[in-house]
Amino acid sequence: MIIAVDGPSGSGKSSTARGVASRLGLRFLDTGATYRAVTWSAMEHGLDLDDPAAVAERARELRLEISTDPTRQFVIADGTDVTTAIREPRISESVSKIATNLDVRKELIRRQRAVIDAAQPSGGIVVEGRDIATVVATDAELKVLLTADQDARMARRGAELAAGSVTAEQLRDQIVRRDADDATVSEFQVASDGAVTIDSTHLSLEEVIDVISRLAKE
Ligand code: CDP
Repeated sequence: MIIAVDGPSGSGKSSTARGVASRLGLRFLDTGATYRAVTWSAMEHGLDLDDPAAVAERARELRLEISTDPTRQFVIADGTDVTTAIREPRISESVSKIATNLDVRKELIRRQRAVIDAAQPSGGIVVEGRDIATVVATDAELKVLLTADQDARMARRGAELAAGSVTAEQLRDQIVRRDADDATVSEFQVASDGAVTIDSTHLSLEEVIDVISRLAKE
């Protein structure tokens, strides 16, 4: 069983996908974390992020361990626990540049598919990202496109605001800029065949988890 949950930044797809996995006893994969880990590693190595060959090489060489336990998420890159570091604003600001590198995508999609395959014997996996239904797992049994209007997406990133790491203005800028950068990846634009679109603007997290869990059991 594969459940694909795609959506833009702040649509709530991470919390939603994790919640669905917990509820249904499935594994969980946050594919965005793989792009963030490569971004972290490229920066750690002092690479020029505008040098696609060097960044792609880094992606291929990176040792990446990513938890698929929805209740205990961690990411380890080349032996360093980067679970928190990959959420820093400097990573959020640069990740789209790494994600538009086609050789990086090729490498990470290969790794994501390996994680998905490995999860099948234990019942299946909820995979969250931007291109899961259209590219990574086109054979997913359930495909969900999660949307929300820009204000709702801003509000959901409120934790970063509360932590004082960014201002409201920076956050809006980040979301708008990342949407624009991500819009250059053609697969993100395609509504996948058979995908169910859920607009979560006026729904609580629990309500969205309920809807998806119900669809999964159909
Ligand atoms: O939660 P948020 O949308 O802020 O970020 P994320 O899901 O961690 O994804 C970070 C970035 O990784 C996105 O802005 C995309 O540029 C990229 N990404 C991607 O290219 N393909 C995916 N399947 C998932 C993320």
